[in-house]
Amino acid sequence: METASDSQVKVCNVNELTPGQSKHIKAKDKDIGVFNVGGKFYAIDNMCIHAGAPLNEGFINEEKCQVACNWHGWIFDLPTGKCVSHPRQDVFAGTYVVKVLNDEIFVEVG
Ligand code: FES
Repeated sequence: METASDSQVKVCNVNELTPGQSKHIKAKDKDIGVFNVGGKFYAIDNMCIHAGAPLNEGFINEEKCQVACNWHGWIFDLPTGKCVSHPRQDVFAGTYVVKVLNDEIFVEVG
């Protein structure tokens, strides 16, 4: 059985984060938003890089696998963290590797 390493921080059990839901965690001084989109989990920096809104409270577009910040509408691609609504192509939120071990969700925080 695979076990969590020191760099993996537990988010919650799989059944506590159902498709379309998101959750905010604090791990090793980082604010991380964890999202379930169609049964797949994604994690990005939770503080919007525009003005600091909590992205886990944004609108999740499950079809596009994106979250829209609920303050001013910046849109982030969850797999890559890329801000797809920004005119520049190099604006990204940080992303984290998510793993499921024994029905528990973990985020890799280095
Ligand atoms: S704070 Fe997120 S778009 Fe402004």
